[in-house]
Amino acid sequence: MTSPVLEQIHAALATVNDPEIRRPITELNMVDSVVIDDVGKVAVTVLLTVSGCPLKETITRDVTAAVGSVPGVSSVDLTLGVMTSEQRAGLQEVLRGGQTQREIPFSRPDSLTKIYAIASGKGGVGKSSVTVNLAVAMANQGLKVGILDADIYGHSVPAMLGVGDIRPTQVEDMIMPVPVPTMGTVGISVISIGMLKPRRDQVVAWRGPMLDRALVQMLSDVYWGDIDALFLDLPPGTGDIAISLGQHLPNAEVLVVTTPQEAAAEVAERAGTMASMMNQRVVGVVENMSFLPCPHCGPEHRLEVFGSGGGARVAATLSSRFGYDVPVLGEIPLDLELRAGGDTGTPIVEASPESPSARQLDKIAATLSGRGRGLAGMQLGLTPAGRF
Ligand SMILES: Nc1ncnc2c1ncn2[C@@H]1O[C@H](COP(=O)(O)OP(=O)(O)OP(=O)(O)O)[C@@H](O)[C@H]1O
Ligand SMILES: [Mg+2]
Ligand SMILES: [Zn+2]
Repeated sequence: MTSPVLEQIHAALATVNDPEIRRPITELNMVDSVVIDDVGKVAVTVLLTVSGCPLKETITRDVTAAVGSVPGVSSVDLTLGVMTSEQRAGLQEVLRGGQTQREIPFSRPDSLTKIYAIASGKGGVGKSSVTVNLAVAMANQGLKVGILDADIYGHSVPAMLGVGDIRPTQVEDMIMPVPVPTMGTVGISVISIGMLKPRRDQVVAWRGPMLDRALVQMLSDVYWGDIDALFLDLPPGTGDIAISLGQHLPNAEVLVVTTPQEAAAEVAERAGTMASMMNQRVVGVVENMSFLPCPHCGPEHRLEVFGSGGGARVAATLSSRFGYDVPVLGEIPLDLELRAGGDTGTPIVEASPESPSARQLDKIAATLSGRGRGLAGMQLGLTPAGRF
């Protein structure tokens, strides 16, 4: 039996997204029952995917607010239940869109998700910092963004986003990426290879096949949903993970991060060349730690702590090698606040959006997303990139 008020309550519930899956709870069959009495008291039962769901409070708040705002509702009494394993299996099927087999959704020909792999020749050049800040900058533009921290040695991305202690929720054999709560309504979700380890302090020394399996798992068993962009923070160097990526995500576009230093530039070129051998297009170079703004004279006086010209050199070398333009997309200065933001879990584009480093990162994100989504980007994966 439905009444106009009940219908309005259902419409209100349809505006509530599950914070991890980022789809309406009504679509996910999470609303178990809605009962309204004659004085407008509403009893709602919502089924969580797992007990001890870390996002209980968010769901409670959102459901209570949505139902409470319906005219005629005097109070909301929310009960949280837990799905049975049959219900979870049903949910998993909904999420897979009827597909029973595991597959990498991003390698489907109709996938519209842009994939950016952040690569560098050597460690410590700021790859993870660049990754999280570009992701946040894009989310701030209103895009839905995922981050896959594929750095087996480091996995520092969750901590940089303030979700370092959170373990992902598992629904049957699907893993929900961890949502980053502060980043707007559309937001960011993240999965780190470190989250898949049985124990945090475990050292992984995966090579070849193991690494490949872990990467495939993070791409196919994780429910990324309909995201606009996926950022992959790669381990430094040109090893096994690049080969796996080339096989599983040939449409990924590569962003090379380097410092101005000669040695860093040289290895960064190698990373770019590797990407191209895997048929991935190198979209640009980011020079990080470009200079230190002089504490006396201001930003016009650039103290070149790590030398100069690394970014331009990598860009020129890769452009001539591949026969297409590989531009320098930005030069990010050394910035104490950027480092501090990484440690406290507040990326600089969020913490201090007007700072010169945040502006550079915003500019790079705008350049990337402005290149458009869909066909133009997809074609790149189908056309072998330039050889050398
Ligand atoms: N522009 C910058 N100014 C100041 N500090 C920076 C800047 N970029 C990165 N850092 C700091 O340098 C350190 C290394 O950065 P980050 O972890 O992002 O590099 P990485 O290339 O991912 O390193 P790894 O190879 O260990 O994964 C961090 O402490 C980070 O906060
Ligand atoms: Mg890193
Ligand atoms: Zn000076």
